[in-house]
Amino acid sequence: GKTEIECQNYIRVLLVNKTEVMTCGTNAFQPLCITREVGNMSSVLERINGVARCPYDPRHNSTAVVTESGELYAATVIDFSGRDPVIYRSLGGMPPLRTAQYNSKWLNEPHFISAYDIGLFTFFFLRENAVEHDCGKTVYSRVARVCKNDIGGRFLLEDTWTTFMKARLNCSRSGEIPFYYNELQSTFYLPEQDLIYGIFTTNVNSIAASAVCAFNLSAITQAFNGPFRSQENPRSTWLPTTNPIHNFQCGTIDDEGPNEGLTERSLQDAQRLYLMNDVVQPESVDPLVMQDDVRFSNLVVDIVQGMDTLYHVMYISTEYGTILKALATPNKNLQGCYLEEMELLPTGVREPILSLQILHSDRSLFIGLNNRVLKIPLERCSTYKNEMLCLEARDPYCGWDFRQRRCTTLEDSSNMSQWKQNITVCPLRNQTTNGGFGTWAPWQPCNNDDGVDGVSSCLCRSRSCDSPAPRCGGKNCEGPSIEVSNCSRNGGWTPWSSWGQCSTTCGTGFELRQRSCNNPSPRHGGRVCVGPSREERFCNEGVSCPQPIFWSPWGSWTKCSTACGGGVHSRVRTCENGNSCPGCALTNISKTNGTEFHQTPQ
Ligand SMILES: *[C@@H]1O[C@H](CO)[C@@H](O)[C@H](O)[C@H]1NC(C)=O
Ligand SMILES: *[C@@H]1O[C@H](CO)[C@@H](O)[C@H](O)[C@H]1NC(C)=O
Ligand SMILES: *[C@@H]1O[C@H](CO)[C@@H](O)[C@H](O)[C@H]1NC(C)=O
Ligand SMILES: *[C@@H]1O[C@H](CO)[C@@H](O)[C@H](O)[C@H]1NC(C)=O
Ligand SMILES: *[C@@H]1O[C@H](CO)[C@@H](O)[C@H](O)[C@H]1NC(C)=O
Ligand SMILES: *[C@@H]1O[C@H](CO)[C@@H](O)[C@H](O)[C@H]1NC(C)=O
Ligand SMILES: *[C@@H]1O[C@H](CO)[C@@H](O)[C@H](O)[C@H]1NC(C)=O
Ligand SMILES: *[C@@H]1O[C@H](CO)[C@@H](O)[C@H](O)[C@H]1NC(C)=O
Ligand SMILES: *[C@@H]1O[C@H](CO)[C@@H](O)[C@H](O)[C@H]1NC(C)=O
Repeated sequence: GKTEIECQNYIRVLLVNKTEVMTCGTNAFQPLCITREVGNMSSVLERINGVARCPYDPRHNSTAVVTESGELYAATVIDFSGRDPVIYRSLGGMPPLRTAQYNSKWLNEPHFISAYDIGLFTFFFLRENAVEHDCGKTVYSRVARVCKNDIGGRFLLEDTWTTFMKARLNCSRSGEIPFYYNELQSTFYLPEQDLIYGIFTTNVNSIAASAVCAFNLSAITQAFNGPFRSQENPRSTWLPTTNPIHNFQCGTIDDEGPNEGLTERSLQDAQRLYLMNDVVQPESVDPLVMQDDVRFSNLVVDIVQGMDTLYHVMYISTEYGTILKALATPNKNLQGCYLEEMELLPTGVREPILSLQILHSDRSLFIGLNNRVLKIPLERCSTYKNEMLCLEARDPYCGWDFRQRRCTTLEDSSNMSQWKQNITVCPLRNQTTNGGFGTWAPWQPCNNDDGVDGVSSCLCRSRSCDSPAPRCGGKNCEGPSIEVSNCSRNGGWTPWSSWGQCSTTCGTGFELRQRSCNNPSPRHGGRVCVGPSREERFCNEGVSCPQPIFWSPWGSWTKCSTACGGGVHSRVRTCENGNSCPGCALTNISKTNGTEFHQTPQ
């Protein structure tokens, strides 16, 4: 029942170390992992089942990481239908472990975002339905972690994590009622700073808004060291635990041997205590970057050495295929400067950006689209042609080199003391704005002279070039600012038709001609045509008809030709107006012996 497209092999896990490349793909809903030699992809070292490492369905959001000791931690779904989410450890030297099966409190319809191997723990970033939120369905963003030396429980929690914990991430706009960006979309980990940057958005069904928040690993650790939140029974509310509980300290293997420290009591605790009471708060009260009406998708962060401090430069992809370049510094009053927005696609083309990756050795940013990869340079100092443009760009990659008299990177500068930056305020965003039309005003009656038919009454509407208005040399709006419609139009006659047939062939008759009021027809309240639509006149007036030919009435009978014995009566008639009347002009009647003969000679 799956389509050909769904049945392709989508690589969802790609792990590379110095010697091996491991890929796990959906493989037509039969997940498969293959290990190959780095540098010779045709040399397959191993094939293993990909279930619990890679999802069945290419659309499912999953993530995976391999630790230094070779274990694969995957956060994915373990079944064909995608209903059994799991954080699963396999390979390497540790026993396979998973999150509690079919326990929606551990993971509730999660979307896994990323996984990191940090210190004693493996961290997972995800968003899921908030179990602790009583009224209605709400999604929260989470950080979850397990201890890497967890070996699972005995009797209780067998083959299951005993150290699984999760905490909510708070990324919100402060205010009397904070505005929450609840849905984590992607993360970026800066190991040097122990900082996790995250992109958060509103729910897809609400107004689009996006933000970037950064979390200090120590803030995450602090939440995990705090109290839990638990439920007395499945129907009661979630309340903070009062007594500190410590059996989740990742000490089990090295300190006391496998699972020595785990009592039945502590396993029972581990089964019900996994949600932290404290919320992980971000580095700054407000997000580093916030923007309404747009959904951010991915980000990467580059650390840039400026003239006198390190800057974090964020590259944030938007849903419509642009990259926002923004600045964050540890200096709190200078957070979230937008540097520029880079358009990668031709205007009008919108395409989601699927991944971003910085390649430092190439000083470039790679951008993964659905079917291709783009590359842009991280810095473009040479586009700033003079000292003022160079300094006012406030771009930490660029400074003015007084010796070379050009805008360069620090590496390309001739002498550090001759290289200057001035990142004291956020750059002015490009003030040049092209005009854009606002919405049309409602239709209103108006008069319009189209120069042909004179003034007519119409419906008109207008719009202004004010959303935005052109500024600082920006282009004016293109297109009409007034629209005229449904103009009234007076009717007009067609030319007369030619005269029709005369009603007679001889003698006076009459004939007819017509015209219609559809040249043009009256419209939208226009006048109808004035005057008759038909005209009649006499015809054949001089043409007299021929005289009719007819018999005159019969004359009276003549006297009988004899007084007795078979005489004849006769009578005559005459043909008037000619001599071609049908029949005879004479009738005879003979009488013999009292019998009467009528005889009409032919
Ligand atoms: C690379 O990873 C494989 C397992 O995926 C592991 O066996 C191997 O030792 C690793 N090599 C290095 C150099 O880390
Ligand atoms: C790559 O691996 C294949 C299969 O193992 C082997 O036949 C081929 O010679 C290898 N190529 C190189 C360049 O090592
Ligand atoms: C995976 O995440 C993306 C981005 O948040 C989302 O649009 C998509 O629906 C998710 N996939 C599934 C199967 O839910
Ligand atoms: C999240 O942060 C905001 C802003 O600092 C704060 O007002 C709010 O109380 C925090 N929410 C939670 C649940 O911690
Ligand atoms: C993270 O928190 C620790 C301890 O509070 C602090 O020393 C460190 O400077 C913070 N890191 C950043 C990047 O702010
Ligand atoms: C760099 O400039 C400073 C001050 O102008 C000068 O003292 C120094 O010698 C220059 N260094 C080099 C390597 O040119
Ligand atoms: C740095 O920029 C600010 C703001 O534009 C300006 O007031 C200041 O004079 C500039 N400083 C230098 C040394 O150019
Ligand atoms: C500033 O924005 C306008 C309109 O968006 C654009 O046409 C122009 O090229 C931009 N200028 C710079 C220097 O980016
Ligand atoms: C113009 O007239 C047509 C037909 O009568 C009508 O459907 C349309 O809504 C009118 N347009 C406006 C702007 O009123």
